[in-house]
Amino acid sequence: MSETRVGGAYDELLALVRARRSVRRFLPEPVSQEDVRRLLEAARWAPSPTNRQPWRFAVVRDAERKAGMREAVAAAARAAATAVGGMVEEGMAPYAAMFEAFEQAPVVVAVLARRPSRVAARLGAGLSDTERAALAGDLPAIGAAIQNFLLAAHALGLGACWLSGPLLAAPDLRAILGGPPTLDLVALIPVGRPAETPAAPPRRDVDQLLVGTKETGPA
Ligand SMILES: Cc1cc2nc3c(=O)[nH]c(=O)nc-3n(C[C@H](O)[C@H](O)[C@H](O)COP(=O)(O)O)c2cc1C
Repeated sequence: MSETRVGGAYDELLALVRARRSVRRFLPEPVSQEDVRRLLEAARWAPSPTNRQPWRFAVVRDAERKAGMREAVAAAARAAATAVGGMVEEGMAPYAAMFEAFEQAPVVVAVLARRPSRVAARLGAGLSDTERAALAGDLPAIGAAIQNFLLAAHALGLGACWLSGPLLAAPDLRAILGGPPTLDLVALIPVGRPAETPAAPPRRDVDQLLVGTKETGPA
């Protein structure tokens, strides 16, 4: 039986994974086309069901388009807050500000998903929505691609943040982004030189995450 190799590459990987942060404030410095290619290069090596590679990307640098996207998100966030009303409406204000912060980033990468294959869409009667999504696998795979992207950004000294809040305005954002109408929006990722060094939000211990039968002894 071969030994696992703890140390070396694992330590480097874990240090990178732990040090990556969601960065939401950016310096007004440009991000090169080469660096954006490097991020997408890391993203495209993520695993995906039957190697479908369901991810697509739209790169937005144009200030006018970013402003249009922010306005769409701000309007949708206001409408959503009014619709829920009361304390939730007040509570949403700081989140809405975070949904819109992408406008300050020199580059915003929109992550888009191919629609699931017709077979995958019909699988899983009797499963929960989460289980059916996991079985179809495209969204989890796109999450893996986004994580590769975020880690690559951190490794390059760039800041980035995975944003799903802006999807409140998904139809408007899709119209601004263009591309085939069969692609759905999954996330916006602002990218730039970090203008902040956020503290690490706490994580649950591994033991708190294990459910069901306990891992005991050597496998
Ligand atoms: C699917 C997903 C959606 C997220 N959406 C938002 C968002 O809309 N706005 C935001 O400011 N942060 C968003 N985040 C970032 C999380 O708030 C952040 O990952 C979490 O607080 C942990 O912080 P860290 O990434 O610095 O470790 C999102 C993260 C994920 C994975």
